[in-house]
Amino acid sequence: MDSWAATLAIFFITVSVLVSALFSATLVEDLNNLRPPPDFNTTIFNNCLNNPSHRYCNSSPMDLNDIFKSTIVASHLCNESKNPNCVESFPKIDLRSHPKITPLYLSFNFFWKYCPLSILSIDLSNSSLKGSFPSDVLLCTQIQALDVSHNHLSGDIPLLNFSHLSNLTHLNLSYNHFSEMKISDTNFFQRFNSSSFIRSGLLPSHQNYNIKTIILLVGFPLFVVLMVGCLGWLCFARPDFLPGALHRNHKFTTWMLKAATDGFSKKNLVMKSDGVCIYKGVLRDGTKVKIEIYRDNVSRENLHKFVEECKILVQMRHKNLVRVLGWCNNRGMRSLVTEWTDGENIEFWIAGSAPPWKQRLKILIGVVEGMFYMQEHWPQVGYDLSTCSLLLSDNLQPLISRFKIGDRNYTANCKSTFMNRSYIMVEVIPANLFDISDIYKFGLLLLEMIANRRPGEEFERGETGFIEYIRMHYPGNLRKAVDERMKLTEKTFDQAKLGIGLGLMCTDQKAGKIPSLDEIYHMICRAYRSCQVFTSENHKRSHDAGQGHKGIQLR
Ligand SMILES: *[C@@H]1O[C@H](CO)[C@@H](O)[C@H](O)[C@H]1NC(C)=O
Ligand SMILES: *[C@@H]1O[C@H](CO)[C@@H](O)[C@H](O)[C@H]1NC(C)=O
Ligand SMILES: *[C@@H]1O[C@H](CO)[C@@H](O)[C@H](O)[C@H]1NC(C)=O
Ligand SMILES: *[C@@H]1O[C@H](CO)[C@@H](O)[C@H](O)[C@H]1NC(C)=O
Ligand SMILES: *[C@@H]1O[C@H](CO)[C@@H](O)[C@H](O)[C@H]1NC(C)=O
Ligand SMILES: *[C@@H]1O[C@H](CO)[C@@H](O)[C@H](O)[C@H]1NC(C)=O
Repeated sequence: MDSWAATLAIFFITVSVLVSALFSATLVEDLNNLRPPPDFNTTIFNNCLNNPSHRYCNSSPMDLNDIFKSTIVASHLCNESKNPNCVESFPKIDLRSHPKITPLYLSFNFFWKYCPLSILSIDLSNSSLKGSFPSDVLLCTQIQALDVSHNHLSGDIPLLNFSHLSNLTHLNLSYNHFSEMKISDTNFFQRFNSSSFIRSGLLPSHQNYNIKTIILLVGFPLFVVLMVGCLGWLCFARPDFLPGALHRNHKFTTWMLKAATDGFSKKNLVMKSDGVCIYKGVLRDGTKVKIEIYRDNVSRENLHKFVEECKILVQMRHKNLVRVLGWCNNRGMRSLVTEWTDGENIEFWIAGSAPPWKQRLKILIGVVEGMFYMQEHWPQVGYDLSTCSLLLSDNLQPLISRFKIGDRNYTANCKSTFMNRSYIMVEVIPANLFDISDIYKFGLLLLEMIANRRPGEEFERGETGFIEYIRMHYPGNLRKAVDERMKLTEKTFDQAKLGIGLGLMCTDQKAGKIPSLDEIYHMICRAYRSCQVFTSENHKRSHDAGQGHKGIQLR
């Protein structure tokens, strides 16, 4: 210790005498103007004799000029770093927060090449340093502390150069932008903990390990739990978000219905009555649906029954049946989801638009086709044929919409609608509605459609009164009983008369001769076909009359 301090003293005395007069000038000017004194080689020689450990003693060839310049820089730097006695000792380079001069000192590579052995600590922090790591600094291999924190250094750390700093115990590379690097691989950096590399861009070993551990031990299980949770929630609440193969098609959840109706919003509420709400909704795939919600608390057993029955309803597929799309078996909120139809029911269609005879026949054909389907495929399922429960599809097909399985009614839309359909009320469903034979129900429908009467409202004894009224006018006085708005011609009137006869036959429970569905179908189809012939005949006649030709008679 003493010996090198002494040699340093001799060295500095020489230099400071030479340069002290010029310290007011800038460092760069000093360096340009100064030449080593003639006996400088002798000074160096003596120094090396006394202490051969000086860095310049071992360098060959010795560049006297560079060595001299480095001594000048050293004395400037020593003063700049506020070392207590620059002649006797120079333990620290302190260029903290000196963004203007630090780069200048760093550029003097001859200084670092002959870096004085007395320097044990270098602090270049917060000096706005840019670019790659100042590797020249590492030529001071004896240093114990190095701080380059709070700069903008980037690129790789010179690992090899660092490995020579065997006495380095304090290092700070924090707050820089070095390239990500696994410095953990080098033994050298393992002596420093993470506080040396805070936000340096580098990944010290334990931090690296910690991140991986955290990801592996916490992140991954959390991710799995979250994924399973999400999937579970999807399966449970919104199976409509899952790919088609993964969810059961007909089962709706409360969340799905909520989403379809904008959270059961008022604007989607079509009808509300005791325990039943009907909503209009749109499913995720865009299908418009009617959602019927029963807000009654059923027993577990009844809920099970409900589901079993719904499973039958969803299987019924025919162009003249309202399609049941599914159900929701939430106990407090059972629901039935069916296709949405914008059309009105037959009762209002007849009363409101006074459709011609031919169109009424077409509706009746559709009804009978639906009846055939039910008879053939679902004989155990009852259905209703009242004018209020039959709906019209967009392409004017009748849709049977009220069913009964076991002792329960499923009404897809037996609501009397006022003409503008803005106000809707529920009709009382007669208890014995499904006990009556299908043929009777059809007969009554037929009579109602020809007469445009509402038995329940217009006749004291309801249906019976209505049938008696028709019978009274049959066959002599029928013009009075049929809907005059049909403007029947002679031929179509005869057909309507036949229709009334058929209706009376169907509704005559006493007479043994009730027509079969086949017979009914053939009669109505025949009437419809000849109606088409009349129409084309009439059309042809008027056309031909205009052209002055003789009409061709079609029969
Ligand atoms: C120093 O240099 C001079 C010439 O420049 C030379 O004569 C002298 O021998 C040198 N001294 C040493 C110790 O190298
Ligand atoms: C040392 O540095 C101070 C500024 O920190 C300056 O005023 C002074 O002149 C310098 N002294 C020498 C001998 O260069
Ligand atoms: C960095 O240096 C600036 C002046 O250049 C100073 O205001 C600031 O406080 C310093 N920051 C730190 C962290 O030393
Ligand atoms: C480290 O310190 C020891 C003792 O002070 C010294 O002998 C050795 O040369 C130093 N190592 C370097 C690389 O300077
Ligand atoms: C890191 O090492 C320094 C000494 O270099 C010590 O003061 C500090 O407490 C250490 N920090 C941690 C987190 O181990
Ligand atoms: C490095 O510098 C940062 C910021 O000044 C500081 O928080 C950290 O403790 C320092 N690390 C060490 C090892 O001194």
